[in-house]
Amino acid sequence: MKHLAKSLFTILVFGTYTASLKAETPQLNYLRHCQGCHGDAGQGSVRNSVPELEKAITKFLVYPEGREYLVQVADISQSPIADQELADLLNWMIKSFGTKEIQRKFVPYNATEISEPRLNRPANTRELRQKLTVKSIHSAVSD
Ligand code: HEC
Repeated sequence: MKHLAKSLFTILVFGTYTASLKAETPQLNYLRHCQGCHGDAGQGSVRNSVPELEKAITKFLVYPEGREYLVQVADISQSPIADQELADLLNWMIKSFGTKEIQRKFVPYNATEISEPRLNRPANTRELRQKLTVKSIHSAVSD
């Protein structure tokens, strides 16, 4: 029993150590940090007010403030991964769940585009979200 506990402890310590060494793939980061709420296909959940990612991407990605806002969404900016990994995750998310048109036009995020807005989130992202949603409706982008 003591032996088993020691082995388990070694596996745990070694596992945590190696996991912290290598950068994870965007898909694995999505699974770890996003999928629990947003679903495996980005479908979201009406019951829990989690938006469908395809719609959210279309709504916000069409103009620069929206592109920046996507970095500042609480669960995105605060996910415990480095800027480059977050850029890779957003790029993967948009390629995987964006509409065909978005996928064609999308210019990938780079790490610099992540670090500045991530550090300087507005105090009230809800207000910003509301403003951008109204702007999006006015530019005739579907909600
Ligand atoms: C705890 C549940 C939860 C987790 C985890 C989560 N989200 Fe969200 N997400 C939400 C909810 C709820 C909203 C709706 C906006 C709000 O209420 O803040 C949202 C909104 C969004 C939006 C649309 C922005 C908007 O204002 O509508 C995107 C894009 C998004 N999330 C991506 C992600 C990504 C990428 C991750 C992982 C890094 C993630 N989310 C993790 C619950 C979650």
